[in-house]
Amino acid sequence: MLHYEPKDLSVPEVHRLLLGGVAPRPIALASTISKDGINNLSPFSFFNAFGANPPIVAFSPSRRGRDSSLKDTYNNLVETRECVIQAVTHSMVEQVSLASAEFSHDIDEFVKSGLTPIDSDLVKPKRVKESPFQMECKVLEIKSYGEEGVSANLAICEVIKFHVAEDLFTNGIIDPLKIDLVARMSGNFYSRSSAGVFEVEKPIGKKCIGYDQVPEHIRKSEIYSANDLGKFGNSESIPEEDEVKSFFQKLLQAKIDDFEEGQEAFLRYQRLNEYRKMLKAILNISENRKMNIELSVKSALQNNDMDFAWKAALSVKHIK
Ligand SMILES: Cc1cc2nc3c(=O)[nH]c(=O)nc-3n(C[C@H](O)[C@H](O)[C@H](O)COP(=O)(O)O)c2cc1C
Repeated sequence: MLHYEPKDLSVPEVHRLLLGGVAPRPIALASTISKDGINNLSPFSFFNAFGANPPIVAFSPSRRGRDSSLKDTYNNLVETRECVIQAVTHSMVEQVSLASAEFSHDIDEFVKSGLTPIDSDLVKPKRVKESPFQMECKVLEIKSYGEEGVSANLAICEVIKFHVAEDLFTNGIIDPLKIDLVARMSGNFYSRSSAGVFEVEKPIGKKCIGYDQVPEHIRKSEIYSANDLGKFGNSESIPEEDEVKSFFQKLLQAKIDDFEEGQEAFLRYQRLNEYRKMLKAILNISENRKMNIELSVKSALQNNDMDFAWKAALSVKHIK
């Protein structure tokens, strides 16, 4: 590990560490208006949501690194206390990047970026038509931390109206594949969230056994990853030994169409992630038994079949 105290680094070095390690960051495309009525549009990735009752979001139009001056967005927020924050989708990322260029304060960045302004309902700043998720906001307070380059100006805002495209939803939640958001990482890197979407079951409302209660022979396996063990720890109970026995009896007796036994068939089922067939294929083979069972457990974990994973994993307790 490398170890740093910020006081021993230059400001760009500290900035680069934050950009790399606090990532991917959501991007607020903030629309503001000056007291003279000039629209401004800029992206900010020092941004997040902090509560839902009332809905609170915050972003930081920091001081410019070059000369410590204040950005137009900051000045507009101070003058008019309103903004619209929109989510940034992959289809608009180049135009959003263009909006981050340093145009002088009398230039309308809607025009420069080619993004389309539409009227808001409750605030003066315009909304960006191209974004499927827009939040009209009132500024509650602005917290400034320093007057040097890249010091933070945290604009804490309350959302007073949401505008959301109706086709984003699947089963009542905004579908990450449909909204197709982008996030900011270090340097010029962005990440496209739809390309890396995966699910982790929430432990909320569950009495999880915890990592430490996962039986030792499972924790010591060389096949399971730390994530696999985390999934076991997320369970509420561990099956009893007689449940494990009847699980194996049932699997032995199960009739599966086009099923083949043996190590070769096992490898074929492994490629297809067919964990039930994997385990059944090697039930009568003693060679590499522990490893083969654990590989089928791993495949079951990938398929979120915890019942199968537990019962198969527990069965290897006495195998050397
Ligand atoms: C994706 C992205 C994220 C950015 N995030 C921030 C940020 O969090 N804070 C900041 O001060 N500038 C950020 N910038 C730079 C501002 O967008 C840029 O300084 C912009 O010119 C400010 O415009 P303004 O002077 O019109 O407010 C970001 C730029 C991009 C492209």
